[in-house]
Order: sequence, then structure tokens, then C-alpha cells
Amino acid sequence: MTKQIGVLTAGGDSPGLNAVLRGIGKAAQEQFQMEVIGFRDGFRGLMENRTIDLNEQTLSGILTLGGTILGTSREKPHRMLVGGRPMDMTDAIVENYRRNHLDVLICIGGGGTQKNAYRLMQKGLNIVTLPKTIDNDVVLTDVSFGFDTALGIATEAIDRLHSTAHSHHRIILVETMGHRAGWLALGAGLASGADVVLIPEIPYSIEKIAKAIRSRRRGGKHSSIVAVAEGALSLDDAAAAEKADKRKKIRRQKNENGKSKDDLAFLEIAHGSNTLSLARQLEELTGLESRVTILGYLQRGGTPSANDRILATRLGTACAAKIQEGVYGVMLAARGEKAEPVALEEVVGKIKTVPLDHSWIESARRVGTSFGD
Ligand code: F6P
Repeated sequence: MTKQIGVLTAGGDSPGLNAVLRGIGKAAQEQFQMEVIGFRDGFRGLMENRTIDLNEQTLSGILTLGGTILGTSREKPHRMLVGGRPMDMTDAIVENYRRNHLDVLICIGGGGTQKNAYRLMQKGLNIVTLPKTIDNDVVLTDVSFGFDTALGIATEAIDRLHSTAHSHHRIILVETMGHRAGWLALGAGLASGADVVLIPEIPYSIEKIAKAIRSRRRGGKHSSIVAVAEGALSLDDAAAAEKADKRKKIRRQKNENGKSKDDLAFLEIAHGSNTLSLARQLEELTGLESRVTILGYLQRGGTPSANDRILATRLGTACAAKIQEGVYGVMLAARGEKAEPVALEEVVGKIKTVPLDHSWIESARRVGTSFGD
């Protein structure tokens, strides 16, 4: 019997998604004579049974294409908006899995998608996942596809910002994405020679950042580049988040303390407010003008890097090969030169943050980079 493969892309879009769809589709059809059905817009399209055949024609020319030809969403099977109300649509999803005679469903996404896929696995569906996110925060894989491209975009952006910092003798703060991990800010900061790198893993002292900038100034360096991860927090905010045990509760605490909205420094509010507040404080503490650039969605756009195309093709084709062997309940992880299956239950509910002894942190400190600690 010809195996029927269902595939969906969920969560934030990222470069390399189409490259991985191509890897899955071409290997499944040309090597293993399997059929591949794409579901649109993440789990929502699976619930609504909105499909697209992934065949030679639809897979042609997409290797270098940004985004995802399937579309994506952040909708969760167990809590989907239907008629404006959140409803558990898991049964409808299981029904459509059966209706399409699927032998397996491939879910491509980050931490949230891994968790949603695992829930469907617990409902008896055959599931295989692939690690996609520019944040690089999926555990048990060396790297997620999307990260290398975003790293290149952020690095090139910071390279360019050195010009205006130097010309105007300014502090330029550049906020990267990365959710609750600092991989993008750290990698781009190291690669582009940022003078300060702020990441969620190392809560910072604003005074220590100012001290480092003033010290540079005394040494004749009248400009500084500060790479800020969107999830980076000051010592105060990190302590508040720790106490509240959930970053989202910080909003109520800050409002209760009567602080202005601008002072609220956490991920859940619009990107950039923490960084804008930090810029103002550094300007006051150093006497240097400061300016902010939020890289935002630039880091998720456009054609994938060569490394991401290679990684996506490796993982996509390995996924098809494992399905041919009947291996389910796993995430295909990049492990050195191999693509290895790891138990999905070992992946869910965790995020891969930057270890404090990581070589990138050590190397940055050795060239004099401040982490605000
Ligand atoms: O997970 C990828 C990511 O780009 C994060 O870095 C960022 O915080 C988040 O998605 C933004 O989410 P959305 O695309 O829903 O605004």
C-alpha cells in the first residue's frame, strides 16, 4: 500500500520551511513512492481539512523561497477559535487525519508546535516533527533551521549600524528576536563586534552597561553598539519574573506599582519597549545620544542561507526515510553530520537556552564584550 503522508507548518514562519517541504516531498515521492498532502495554515487547516497536493509541480522552484507555501498559524488543536470562542478541536483533527487515510502527520515548527504534535500523538496519531525556529531554542538538536539565516540578517544589520554609531558618536541599541533565548543576539553580537550583548540568560545591571560604555569613552571610543535580545531583562525585572514565576505576570506587578507602561520590560508586550526604555536610561547615565533599531521580522524573511537549505534538505529527506522505515513518535534532530530521531516526549516542554559557559560567551568576554553583569 502507498503510504499517505500529511504535513503542516506551524508557529512563526522562518527561512528554510519551503526547502524542508521540498526535501520531504521529493524524497517521499521519488525515492519511496509515497504520497504527500499539505495542510494549510498549521493545525487550523488540518481542522478545516484545507489541503494542497505536494507534487512535482507544487514543489518546483521553492528551495530558495522564504516563508511557507502552506501558510502557517499559531493555532493550537486543543484551543482553537471557532465562532469567536476557544474550543478543543482535537477530535475534528483526528477525524481529518483518518478521512485522509494518513499513515503519518509531519509537524514542522518550534517549541509550541512540538508540544501540540505530542498531544496529537497521545491521541493515537503517528507523528514525526522537525525543528524549525529562528530562535534556535528547540532542545536535543544541534541547531534548528531558520537560525542560520536570521543570524546572517542580524549580523549584516549590526555591521551597517556601526557606521552611524561611529559617525554620530552614539550608542546604537539593536534588538534581535529569539523569544526567551539569547542565541540570535549573542551570535550576531559576536559576529558583528557589538560592544555590549544582552541576553535573557544573563540578567543585566544598567549601571554596569553604562560603566562599560563610559570606560570605552575614556579610551577614546565615543560610540557603542548594544545587541539586545528581545527577552533580555534587567536584574530587577528578572527578579520580578522569578518571583512571579511567569513573565506574563510582571505586567500586573508593574501596573500595581504604578510604573508607567514604558518601564515594563518583558517579552509579552510589543517588541521594543524594553529596549527603548534602556536606551533612554543609558543616554542619561553616559551623556551619549542613543538610538534604537528593532530588527523584528526582517530576521524571518527572504531566501534561506546555504546552510539552512542544506540543513532543511538533510532533515526533510531523512524524515521521509524514517517514515519509510515506520519510525514515528520522534523529532528528526541535527546531530553532527547526521539527522537522528529523538523521542518527541524528550523534546516537549523544554527550551534550549544559551549555557553560561558556552564558547560564544567565553570568546566575546575575551574580546572585551560586556554582558552587563
Ligand atoms: O518564534 C519565532 C519568533 O520570531 C520569536 O523570535 C518572536 O518573539 C515571535 O516569533 C514573534 O511572534 P509573532 O510572529 O506571532 O509575532
